[in-house]
Amino acid sequence: MGGLRRLEYRGYDSGGVALVGDGTLISAKKAGKLLNLDAELAERPLPVAHTGIGHTRWATHGAPNDVNAHPHLDETGRIAVVHNGIIENFAVLRAELEATGHELVSETDTETVAHLLHDELERTADLSDAVRAVCRRLEGAFTLVICDADHPDVVVGARRNSPLVVGRGDGENFLGSDVAAFIEFTRDAVELGQDQVVTITPDDIVVTDFFGAPAATKEYHVDWDVSAAEKGGYDWFMLKEIAEQPQAVADTLLGRHSQGGQLQLDEMRLSDGELRDVDRIVIIACGTASYAGLVAKYAIEHWTRIPCEVELASEFRYRDPILDKSTLVVAISQSGETMDTLMAIRYARQQKARVLSICNTNGSTIPRESDAVIYTHAGPEIAVASTKGFLSQIVACYLLALYLAQVKGTKYGDEIASIIAEIDKTPAGIQRMLDEGDQVRKLATELAGSRSILFLGRHVGFPVALEGALKLKELAYIHAEGFAAGELKHGPIALVERGLPVFVVVPPKGRDQLQEKTVSSIQEIRARGALTIVLAEDGDEDVVPYADHLIRLPKVPTILQPLVATVPLQIFAAEFANQLGNDVDQPRNLAKSVTVE
Ligand code: AGP
Repeated sequence: MGGLRRLEYRGYDSGGVALVGDGTLISAKKAGKLLNLDAELAERPLPVAHTGIGHTRWATHGAPNDVNAHPHLDETGRIAVVHNGIIENFAVLRAELEATGHELVSETDTETVAHLLHDELERTADLSDAVRAVCRRLEGAFTLVICDADHPDVVVGARRNSPLVVGRGDGENFLGSDVAAFIEFTRDAVELGQDQVVTITPDDIVVTDFFGAPAATKEYHVDWDVSAAEKGGYDWFMLKEIAEQPQAVADTLLGRHSQGGQLQLDEMRLSDGELRDVDRIVIIACGTASYAGLVAKYAIEHWTRIPCEVELASEFRYRDPILDKSTLVVAISQSGETMDTLMAIRYARQQKARVLSICNTNGSTIPRESDAVIYTHAGPEIAVASTKGFLSQIVACYLLALYLAQVKGTKYGDEIASIIAEIDKTPAGIQRMLDEGDQVRKLATELAGSRSILFLGRHVGFPVALEGALKLKELAYIHAEGFAAGELKHGPIALVERGLPVFVVVPPKGRDQLQEKTVSSIQEIRARGALTIVLAEDGDEDVVPYADHLIRLPKVPTILQPLVATVPLQIFAAEFANQLGNDVDQPRNLAKSVTVE
């Protein structure tokens, strides 16, 4: 159950287990969070066994109830299957099974696999062969993990488009959607490729393709341990991850630059020549990662003069985008498994574009399918709401932009060194925002009855506003929207009414008049009754008369401001949700890795 609990962040509509021992298979499953399964197992304990599988579900086919929970069994109850992904041809398979007399009890696509396996195992006694034969019939995305009462020491897994990793132990081996499942027992992992079947026994790991030919695998050592996947004294993972941000940012920067500011990105498998040829950058990502991409656009265009677009991965390939080998596609993903982003990458590579991914999860699919990768090294992010993932993605984007500036010669070495020196100071600035978090927590307590909150920003403050609003939407389930402050007067200002809380991120003072224009926006909304919560740098006295609440930010260059300005918005959303009694780590309807399109 420990492993399953550490995977619960991936989906929490239901949980289930199946164990094999003494020639029988026993299973238990329950809708809702794992606590419900715990209660069921306390009432009806399962026997001790050494072979078993478990699942936490994010529902796609069929409501999140007990019957649709995994594992799914064949009619004889000897085979148990858990599945992530979507089997696209399941309706045809189901009709075929029903026509041959099978009775399916759930509405899921997964159950078809258990029945297909039953039929295959009448043709072959080898479980792995049967799994391969069934996989050859399936379309769509799937990770399958299977056990069978007649093969008590064997678990078979298969993957296409969905994640599955192997843990190599001593006299025991493991499978998991990510390494958190088995980190308590081993940090030695084996990456599986696309369309592979893995058979584990206590002493062996055998990997083949779907036709039984031996397949190459890659082994790696996980650079964090079980304590990183525990709450460590915090009430919520999200609070721990917010607090870890100074370290996460420092770890993203670690070893990437020399004293003289010369940048080295070890995982950059594109040559300097190839990078010099890049004449356009397209960033693809989803949700929070796409907001990191919006910040990156400002940095990339400002420092490298390479035109840069940011596009939601789910939209990208459907508009026939213009790509060629001089286009660098940058895919940003904390999990490395987001299906929309993965499909966009595959499309981009088919069009001959080069793909560089920025990712936090070693061994995940997106970096494996990219031409180059910059890992963020932020450590595991468990809370569904991304926090340290976001800040470390932004830092990795800065590093990429500066690396391109270095290669293309659009910035002198000493300029790059001085920007890097400023980035190096940001962990201290982030720490200060954490230390001053009580002001924001108090504010969240006061505003916890609000049903609508707006967030405004300009320049890189605009993606910060979008991120502040997304955090609040996903955790507090209220109306929250981020706007470019200059856009307000073109429509959204109609939303402003007496008492409406509006956060405004004020850019540092500079030659561009952005600060002055943002102060004007604050005046405009305040004149219409808004309750203004202003985030402005130390020493900015212009905002004081118009701020109902003033959150001070350390002085940093404009482009780096998201690293400090986002932190109070994260703390606010977490505390707001806490006040409402919501589950801060596992908000309703969501899953951490969205592995379906
Ligand atoms: C953020 O709080 C979200 N839960 C979500 O928007 C997330 O950032 C998005 O699904 C992308 O995930 P990825 O970075 O793992 O690809």
